[in-house]
Amino acid sequence: MILGDKIESAIIEHAQKSKHHNFYLYDMSVITNKIKNLKSILPKSVQVYYAMKANPHEQFLKTTKAAGVKGIEIASMGEAQRAIEAGFTADQIVFTGPAKSQEELEWSVENKIQKIHIESLTEAHRLNNICAEAGHTQDILIRVNPNFDIHGAQAKFSGDSSKFGIDHNVFLEVLPEIVNLPHLNFIGLHVYAASGVLKVEDLLENCRRVFGIAREVEARYPDIHCDIIDFGGGFGIDYLETGNDFSIDFYATELKKLIETFDFSDRQFILELGRYLAADSGWYCTQIIDIKTSLGKKQVLCTGGTHHFRRPVALGINHPLVILPQNQPKIFEGQESAKDEMVFIGGPLCNSADKLAPKDIYIEKANIGDIAVFGLAGAYGLSMSHVNFLSHPYPDEFFL
Ligand SMILES: Cc1ncc(COP(=O)(O)O)c(C=O)c1O
Repeated sequence: MILGDKIESAIIEHAQKSKHHNFYLYDMSVITNKIKNLKSILPKSVQVYYAMKANPHEQFLKTTKAAGVKGIEIASMGEAQRAIEAGFTADQIVFTGPAKSQEELEWSVENKIQKIHIESLTEAHRLNNICAEAGHTQDILIRVNPNFDIHGAQAKFSGDSSKFGIDHNVFLEVLPEIVNLPHLNFIGLHVYAASGVLKVEDLLENCRRVFGIAREVEARYPDIHCDIIDFGGGFGIDYLETGNDFSIDFYATELKKLIETFDFSDRQFILELGRYLAADSGWYCTQIIDIKTSLGKKQVLCTGGTHHFRRPVALGINHPLVILPQNQPKIFEGQESAKDEMVFIGGPLCNSADKLAPKDIYIEKANIGDIAVFGLAGAYGLSMSHVNFLSHPYPDEFFL
């Protein structure tokens, strides 16, 4: 990972400001440029929503709105409230996710949010009952658990028994029942098959198969039309720096061709992107507080751990790491350092899963007092971490 002068000097400057030397640094110009680029290259019928679970910080919400996303994808009432506080209106919100509570559905109906993604037959009936009571008709998409899966994804949401959506074959059976519920307005499908997909061909194959499901629905039920097709998220980030970035230009070109092939120019498409938009806008920075050797291996220990940055260990994927030297005075003659070696790097928690890199990682040079900087940390960073474990201070969040 190359930090570049701007980010490197900002990290060094903010390390002085961070009382506990643990912080996230974010650069909002990165996410702004990504959204603008997507909007310029994707077919006009493809709308980009920000999946705020990737990073719910107010600045991310305000920035994505200002950069022109069509709306925001939420998965809880808490997220809805944050989105509204940041300036999104209810008619820009789509509510996804399994096991939505009665209270969440009532709130959504009362506030007339744009779309709700139905994840089960029970949820369809529960929402219809709430709408009947409120005298409201709600636009819905149905999430389908497809009977295929995506190879090479970091996390799969398909091709298996799943809490997400309604199984493909069941969906085909129950669709008329849902469509006939008087207070629900079926407008289309949602199929989010996998997360963290780097191979564009795999995601395009997902789109092709989802188009196939829409065709299957319309052939079986000529009165039902899938106006909207939502592919969810899933664009991958090259955490391991293999050089195989998700090729967005190729995706845009091929998706356009696919829309033409299926003669779907009268449809609208939705992408709910989290990781792809937010990951490279953020760096997690923490200070090295100790270095010691244990049974022949260096243990590099930082003041921050998985209570701040849990994603690497949760997904078993190392993030890129750079050590910024701080030339701190030595604590004692003979203190250890790391040089040109594979090390363990972790935090202060009394828990062996407290690893900042799940696999041993190469360090060219590190001394006590230096700053360890983990890249691609803007998505699923702080919000996915167990911040209260052991009651350590929360990390700071700084913006350039
Ligand atoms: C329904 C839904 N949409 C979008 C996303 C965002 O996915 P990604 O970060 O892979 O873009 C998720 C992530 O879990 C999701 O559950």
